[in-house]
Amino acid sequence: MKNIVVLVSGGGTNLQVLIDAVESGEIKNGVIKCVISSKPDAYALERAKKHGIKTRVLVRKEYPDSVEYSRDILKAIQEEQADLVVYAGFMTILDELVCKAMPNKMINIHPALIPSFCGKGYYGLHVHEEALKRGVKVTGATVHFVTEVCDGGPIIIQKAVEVKNGDTPEILQRRVMEQAEWKILPQAVALFCDDKIVVHGDTTEILN
Ligand code: GAR
Repeated sequence: MKNIVVLVSGGGTNLQVLIDAVESGEIKNGVIKCVISSKPDAYALERAKKHGIKTRVLVRKEYPDSVEYSRDILKAIQEEQADLVVYAGFMTILDELVCKAMPNKMINIHPALIPSFCGKGYYGLHVHEEALKRGVKVTGATVHFVTEVCDGGPIIIQKAVEVKNGDTPEILQRRVMEQAEWKILPQAVALFCDDKIVVHGDTTEILN
């Protein structure tokens, strides 16, 4: 059984699908040990508490820099004996000391088809605003391993979503969540917990 630590900053709909997938047995070889939030008022914390999951809050603004913050995040992750760390709407870029300590053990959900609309500054609603501005007809979501390159680690699963006439960033964000994020994030976590993801350098192979 793998210990999963989930990092959050906001509403926590992706955390919710992970909780549901553990409870339904879609993720059968993993348990959510702890939810860590960078914001004290994140609704994700309420979702965790409702399901009896331990929560911790490490407020980014209370730290002078990213290195000191990252050290405390890593300490918390290690104290929880995490086998897997999931960034589920975690809006803080951590120092490379964290991913170096957890190589190929941290995954992130990004609301676009990487390598489009990703990297520093592309998070949350901004991603969908930029996709609409550029006029793409297809967008989607990506689950990938976290490395020192922002949104640059090996891709695990991607799912495409259609952009429709009249879409606003909010409408598109909701469609990407419903049709892509909430499906591929639990799938990727289940694959990881079943030891079915093999990393070959910059790419991954999913075992049947
Ligand atoms: C999700 O759309 C997630 O993909 C995105 O933030 C939202 C969080 O929603 N993450 C990023 O943009 C990370 N770069 P949630 O709190 O309801 O899961």
